Amino acid sequence: MTIHIGAAPGDIAETVLLPGDPYRAKWAAETFLDDARLVNEVRGMLGYTGTWNGHPVTIQGSGMGMPSLSIYTNELIRNFGAKTLIRIGSCGGMLAKVNIRDVIIAMTATTVGSPSDSIMREVNFAPCADWGLLHAAAHAAEILDVGVHVGGIYSSDTFYDERADLNEQMVRHNILGVEMEAAELYTLAARYDARALAVLTVSDHLQTGEAVPSDERERSFGDMVEIALKAAFA
Ligand code: HPA
Repeated sequence: MTIHIGAAPGDIAETVLLPGDPYRAKWAAETFLDDARLVNEVRGMLGYTGTWNGHPVTIQGSGMGMPSLSIYTNELIRNFGAKTLIRIGSCGGMLAKVNIRDVIIAMTATTVGSPSDSIMREVNFAPCADWGLLHAAAHAAEILDVGVHVGGIYSSDTFYDERADLNEQMVRHNILGVEMEAAELYTLAARYDARALAVLTVSDHLQTGEAVPSDERERSFGDMVEIALKAAFA
């Protein structure tokens, strides 16, 4: 048991999927896992552990933004021994070639600031995905009837971003999409020798203003869970 995760030792699997939304954790656990049981409800940040094809898996909400994800990831790795952590979430499309409903598999996550800045200071650390997970996820995604992109994303601290010039620089540097968590996940995985990946569905587009209707989101979320589970146990 930690400050933010009320699970008993052994209640958390070595493989953890991290949706931002705790209700997505509940839905994914009930839909994809066998024998899913609630292992955490501290602050309503629901976490479930069950099995997928016989493999133990935990699906734990991370909350929104790097400070929140950092708390759960630190405790999952350092206190509960998590070894493979895959973020499953949504992102905003940035490039014209990226369409809403597409899947982005994040090879790198650029950020302006993360909770790890306090130790990185002047260093521009390059947060990157685990190669084995990235490769397996790209392969798993190929069979889906959606566009798949593998490349760099931007982990922002601001959903309502007023720095249009910053987004322009991201686009200039071929950043596929924007979300708010992956850079800190990748940095913590590097620090504590865990494997990490972010698999994202493009829920809206910064250039076109298009957005996936809410009644369609569950379906695209299911694709991500499937990709993440296949990658974790490839
Ligand atoms: N910005 C940041 N995070 C996001 C977005 C966005 O446009 N869409 C989904 N997550």
